[in-house]
Amino acid sequence: MTPEIKTALPGPQAKAIIERDAAVVSPSYTRGYPLVIKRASGASVEDVDGNMFLDCAAGIAVNSTGHSHPDVVRAITDQAQQFLHMSGTDFYYEVQVRLAEEIAAMAPIDGGVKSFFGNSGTEAIEAAIKLARYATGRQNLIAFFGGFHGRTLGSLALTASKPVQRSGFQPFMAGVYHAPYADCYRCPVGLKPDNCAAECLDFIEHQLFMHVLTPDDVAAIVVEPIQGEGGYVVAPTQFLERLRELTTAHGILLVVDEVQSGMGRTGRMFAIEHAGVRPDVIAIAKGIASGMPLGVTAARADLMSWPPGAHASTFGGNPVSCAAALATIKLLRDQLIANAADVGARLKDGLTALMDKHALIGDVRGRGLMVGVELVRDRQTKERAIAERDAVVNGAFRRGLLVLGAGKNAIRFSPPLVLTREQADTAVRIFDEALSDVAR
Ligand SMILES: Cc1ncc(COP(=O)(O)O)c(C=O)c1O
Repeated sequence: MTPEIKTALPGPQAKAIIERDAAVVSPSYTRGYPLVIKRASGASVEDVDGNMFLDCAAGIAVNSTGHSHPDVVRAITDQAQQFLHMSGTDFYYEVQVRLAEEIAAMAPIDGGVKSFFGNSGTEAIEAAIKLARYATGRQNLIAFFGGFHGRTLGSLALTASKPVQRSGFQPFMAGVYHAPYADCYRCPVGLKPDNCAAECLDFIEHQLFMHVLTPDDVAAIVVEPIQGEGGYVVAPTQFLERLRELTTAHGILLVVDEVQSGMGRTGRMFAIEHAGVRPDVIAIAKGIASGMPLGVTAARADLMSWPPGAHASTFGGNPVSCAAALATIKLLRDQLIANAADVGARLKDGLTALMDKHALIGDVRGRGLMVGVELVRDRQTKERAIAERDAVVNGAFRRGLLVLGAGKNAIRFSPPLVLTREQADTAVRIFDEALSDVAR
């Protein structure tokens, strides 16, 4: 039965492990509540005390095919029995080539696609930054406020999500500028989505390009089609279209960060497909290998003109991860992308309906199974309900539902894409109860 809570949380076994963790593990991780996992399957997670949780977090949007999907486990096991590692940097293996062929077939990039393999989202972005500089011979990059692109020093220069992620780590990589993102709930230029022509991008054209930078010195603009860590903020189509026009006009590369929004989560393989925009580079990680570490920088083939030695990674494109990715892509194509669209719509409708009952909900947004709920103290002023958000996330956990915060005051639902309609209804019901507890 999921969910089923049998002990006080954390239970005795969990408590003991958390105490040991505190003594030896970096305190920089952001554990919002004391979940210590023992095993998981599909969208169900069991903790070390036997409590069962419904998972709407999926290890931060990673377990796309559900926990330990048998097809993925089989692919991993089969590959592990052949060989574990050989390094794609120095040697060839077919499973990596096959994955690159799959990515070339599915990436919405014009003119042929080549892939660089790393191990994580931040590495996919690092490779994109280096490639953009190398291929254009230009140095500067533009990213967006609210964006999250990783925590290594190159990607961190692009990340502008929360000050705590940057504080104490300066100086950053030079040549990065930030512009306002199309956050339609809190429009940076005071417009409504239905009467806007992405005027927030005027900042790039009429401020940055007028006073700070010549566009000819800009290598790339890096954007999330839906901001993930920033609060599940969905950019409208006109914003992404105008960004494509602007970059094309100036020979700037459009790099789309699909680390969180990609791999079927939004009901399309990539979120950018909803806008019909064709980027030059796509950064992929998280859901691509169902939990095995893998990052991919997929780029227009002609941009990948860098010579041997220019960029590489010992572990990148590990054969076991590649095998997991191939099994994942097959499951996504066969059924899970469609399921994400179907169950995601139901989840979003269910959460939207809660707005009638809970004044705390200011906005419900998202695509497919990437749904965000922004909590506010007052719908008119949109004052951010930060403490309330944390209390709701915690309350949901205590009732057996795993969700994560995003941004300052939003909650994200990023379940495994195997979530059923019944499980979506259960998630809405528990979320309703957690909201009622906090309102009380
Ligand atoms: C959009 C986006 N880009 C990049 C990253 C960094 O990925 P990783 O944590 O695998 O380095 C994340 C992680 O949350 C992300 O959401």
